[in-house]
Amino acid sequence: MLWLTEAPFRIIGLCVILSGLALYAYVCKDTDIRPKIDNEFFVNNEGCKMISLDVTSPAIEKYIKKPPVEYKCIDVTWFETKLIKGSWYLMLVRDINEILIDRHLDKQTKIQCRYDRFDGKNDTRLEHQGTDTFNLVPPYRWKVRATVYLRVSCFHLKKLLHEDVHFFIQPPPQELLEQPVSLKKWVQGNKTKTAESTSEPLISVMILGLDSVSHLNFLRQMPRTANYLRHQMSHVEFWGYNKVGLNTFPNLIAMLTGKSEEENEKYWKKTQRMDNCPLIWKDFKRAGYNTSFGEDYPGASLFNYLKPGFGSIPTDHYLRPAQKLMNITTGTYKLTTCSGGRLLTDILLEMVENLLPHMQRYPFFSFYWWSQGIHDHFNFGSVIDQRFVRLLRRLDDTGITNHTFIFFMSDHGSRWGPFRRTFQGMLEDNQPMLFILYPKWMKERYPLAIRNLESNSHSLITTYDMHETMRDLLHLDSLQENRLKEKSRLLWKLPGPETPRGVSLFLPVPSWRTCNTSNIPVAYCLCQGK
Ligand SMILES: *[C@@H]1O[C@H](CO)[C@@H](O)[C@H](O)[C@H]1NC(C)=O
Ligand SMILES: *[C@@H]1O[C@H](CO)[C@@H](O)[C@H](O)[C@H]1NC(C)=O
Ligand SMILES: *[C@@H]1O[C@H](CO)[C@@H](O)[C@H](O)[C@H]1NC(C)=O
Ligand SMILES: *[C@@H]1O[C@H](CO)[C@@H](O)[C@H](O)[C@H]1NC(C)=O
Ligand SMILES: *[C@@H]1O[C@H](CO)[C@@H](O)[C@H](O)[C@H]1NC(C)=O
Ligand SMILES: *[C@@H]1O[C@H](CO)[C@@H](O)[C@H](O)[C@H]1NC(C)=O
Repeated sequence: MLWLTEAPFRIIGLCVILSGLALYAYVCKDTDIRPKIDNEFFVNNEGCKMISLDVTSPAIEKYIKKPPVEYKCIDVTWFETKLIKGSWYLMLVRDINEILIDRHLDKQTKIQCRYDRFDGKNDTRLEHQGTDTFNLVPPYRWKVRATVYLRVSCFHLKKLLHEDVHFFIQPPPQELLEQPVSLKKWVQGNKTKTAESTSEPLISVMILGLDSVSHLNFLRQMPRTANYLRHQMSHVEFWGYNKVGLNTFPNLIAMLTGKSEEENEKYWKKTQRMDNCPLIWKDFKRAGYNTSFGEDYPGASLFNYLKPGFGSIPTDHYLRPAQKLMNITTGTYKLTTCSGGRLLTDILLEMVENLLPHMQRYPFFSFYWWSQGIHDHFNFGSVIDQRFVRLLRRLDDTGITNHTFIFFMSDHGSRWGPFRRTFQGMLEDNQPMLFILYPKWMKERYPLAIRNLESNSHSLITTYDMHETMRDLLHLDSLQENRLKEKSRLLWKLPGPETPRGVSLFLPVPSWRTCNTSNIPVAYCLCQGK
């Protein structure tokens, strides 16, 4: 009797528990990817053994806090830019009544607005191209004359009510937009020609960088992006990527030039300009690629922070002059966290977005680097996690990932704060995040190259190797099986101490490689006892 009445309850109870578990599994499948590291070693080679570390543990958990709230814009956005039928418009996106209430005004005609157009000649010189004035009247949209950088400001009498800076990238001409998308090199004039005679396909290169994010902190703070990379993209995740210098510059200059900071000094010592550095994007430019470069945070600019910067604009598309304009508006650059109501992070994302129609059609070398917030805060990654999922999804949806080789990377780990003072924090500083994303078809076309790339995921590697990898991407025929075999043979024949510091990741990195031959100073070397 008792059993009979109890049974249904047991079943119901069991069902409740099971559905609870199912719901838990469902809810957490997106966020709970914190893997326990099963391997004892991240790298376990003759020349280098790198002990593995936990993504989380009770000792680490106490440093994981809610992200800082200080990155909020004080101002709100009044204007957005919008492309309509091939022309750029400035659109009022804030409700006019809200503006009037906010500014204690009774009539919108009392607000006088203007925009100033600029072209950027170099890092310091912006050429003023003209001023246009307008009132905030319907239809609240104004066609902007062709320009690159624009500062918009609104006044009541002499009092400044609002200002913002915009960066324009002219879209491809309408005829081109109507044609089916195919990748062609840009040729002077308006003629374009298809891929060169080698019959190898064209492939773009993109660097998506997040400053100061260790591999493990990326997994901790940006689980959604990690999840997207791991499950939606053809990728290789690197566990033995070791930094070669203290901060951003030595690590990135090695990637961009294949040379160390010291070896690069001669290029700017005399001229006090960095234009002569052998930056790899120049080789891509010569090969018929277009180039673009943007950093979100001018205070930490790669070529300007404690460095002389460029004498003329270094790439076809260049964000820095827009930041100069923002700096004029908000005073000192240390305080420039927003323009209008937009975070600097989003301004760089907008630049990428506006370039997509070009990237669909022309091969590009693009270099984008985000530092705002993450440079200073261990926990900032979680704030921008979703934004990077969105970016990757856009690159997928527009077909750009199908012809672009992407380095999704950082330069080093967190360099300050309480976590950095722990033992693990100190180690993580030396091990930045790196995922390489490659078009799926490369696996069929260059099977050995991709197999080698994958085999290097647990090798000791540095930004010097990324440089050599980019060199191979300039000449895709170097990825053919016979060429790779020949190069591997020569590489593996070299005596250990002669292992080159930079090895293309399309080759098997010799297992006897050490920090010493990789130009990794002892202070940052994660290999045990070497
Ligand atoms: C550009 O294209 C137009 C029409 O397609 C042609 O008439 C013109 O000559 C071209 N200009 C150059 C510089 O090639
Ligand atoms: C691409 O490069 C060519 C040649 O330098 C330049 O004329 C053109 O404006 C660039 N186009 C884009 C979309 O970047
Ligand atoms: C920018 O150009 C102006 C004039 O062409 C020049 O005087 C100035 O030195 C340049 N600035 C830099 C940083 O090279
Ligand atoms: C921003 O302006 C301040 C003060 O005018 C100046 O010291 C600083 O160098 C500027 N920063 C940038 C990135 O131009
Ligand atoms: C991706 O690129 C390859 C090689 O160019 C092409 O064959 C394939 O159709 C493309 N796939 C998509 C989905 O565009
Ligand atoms: C590698 O070892 C040699 C000889 O011991 C030393 O001179 C050199 O400085 C080392 N290189 C690095 C990057 O530690």
